[in-house]
Amino acid sequence: MAVITTIDDLHRLYRRRAPRMFYDYCESGSWTEQTFRDNIGDFQKIRLRQRVAVDMSNRSTASTMIGERVAMPVALAPVGMTGMQHADGEILAARAAEAFGVPFTLSTMSICSIEDVAAQTSKPFWFQLYVMKDEDFVRRLIGRARDAGCSALVLTLDLQLLGQRHKDLKNGLSAPPKLTLPVIADLATKWRWGLGMLATKRRKFGNIVGHAQGVGDPASLMAWTAEQFDPQLDWGKIEKLRDLWGGKLILKGILDAEDAVMAQKIGADAIVVSNHGGRQLDGAHSSIRMLPSILEALGGRTEVHLDSGIRSGQDVLKALAMGAQGTFIGRAFVYGLGAMGQAGVTKALQVIHTELDKTMALCGERDVTALGRHNLIVPQGFDDPTAVV
Ligand code: GLV
Repeated sequence: MAVITTIDDLHRLYRRRAPRMFYDYCESGSWTEQTFRDNIGDFQKIRLRQRVAVDMSNRSTASTMIGERVAMPVALAPVGMTGMQHADGEILAARAAEAFGVPFTLSTMSICSIEDVAAQTSKPFWFQLYVMKDEDFVRRLIGRARDAGCSALVLTLDLQLLGQRHKDLKNGLSAPPKLTLPVIADLATKWRWGLGMLATKRRKFGNIVGHAQGVGDPASLMAWTAEQFDPQLDWGKIEKLRDLWGGKLILKGILDAEDAVMAQKIGADAIVVSNHGGRQLDGAHSSIRMLPSILEALGGRTEVHLDSGIRSGQDVLKALAMGAQGTFIGRAFVYGLGAMGQAGVTKALQVIHTELDKTMALCGERDVTALGRHNLIVPQGFDDPTAVV
C-alpha cells in the first residue's frame, strides 16, 4: 500500500499480515456485537459545528492526563496479547507512545513482561491490573509494577469473566498458537509475522508464565480468565488494592453513573468510561452515549477518560468536546502494529493527531483543552440513555 492516510488503511494491511486467530481476537465484540458496532455508530451520530473567520494559527493538542503532560490526550489502551499481533508488540507500541509523548498502558495479559517493557523504554508507563483469586500473585504483580516505575495502576473492573466471543472459541485462541492444520495453512501466508516470531523469545504471557503456580493452561486467555480471575471483586477489595498500590489509580470499565460515583468515593484519580470495546456486555450502550450522565453525576470532581469506538482524531475531538479529559485507543493502534510494527503505531498516532488538529482548526478552536459542547451538534436525547436516537 503506497500512502497511508487513515486508520482504515492500517486496518486493511493488518488484516493481510496478522494471523487470522489474532486478527479475529482483536476485531471481535461479544455475542451479537451490537455494542461493538454501536461504539462506532454513535460517534457518527454526533456532528461538528463548522466555524469560520477565527485565527487558527499556533494550535496546540497538548494536555494532561492524571497530571502527566501528553502531546495529545490519547493513551494507548491495555490490549491483551499485543505481542501476538507482532513480535515484541508491547515493547514496540510502548516505544512509539514514548516517542510521540502519549501514555502506554501494559495489560496484565501481555506477552512482553512488565520488566521487559521497562528495560526497553525510558519513560514510566501505566500498568493495567486484572484481579485474580490468588492474592499473593496480585500483590507480587503490583510490586513488580511499582519496581518497574509504572506511574499509574489501571484497574479493570468490567472483566471478571470473559464475554463470549464466538470466533475465539472456534479458532482455539492461544498464545502461542497451537499448530493445527488450519493454523499452519494460515501462517504459511503470514511470513512477516512468522519471521518476527522466530526471532523473538517472547511468545507466552510474560507476566504470568514463570510467575504463577498451578495454572491449568497458561496459553489460553479463556481458560486463564475462567480459572484465575476473581469473580468476587467488589468495592471493598478495590479499596484494599488502592492502598496496596499507593500511587495514581485509574478505574477502567465504568459505564454507569452509580458506579462512577462509587469510584469517586474511593478516590480514583480518573475513571475510564468503557464497555471494553464491546467485548464484554453486549447490549450495553456505547461509551459515548453513557458519558454525559456519568459526567453529570461526578460534577467535575473526578477526571474522566473514555475508550471504545475511537478510530479517528475526529472521534477523539468528539469525546473531548463531550467532556472527557482524555481518551484511549486500542484497536486503532493494534491495526498499526500488526501492519507495520513500531512504525505502524507511530503512523496510527500521526493519523489521529493530524485529524484532531485539523478538525479542531475547522471548528474554530486552537487549544484542545478549550473544546466543549459548543463545538458539537448532538442529537436530541443523546444525553438520556433511555432515549432512542
Ligand atoms: C481482554 O482484555 C480482552 O478483551 O480480551
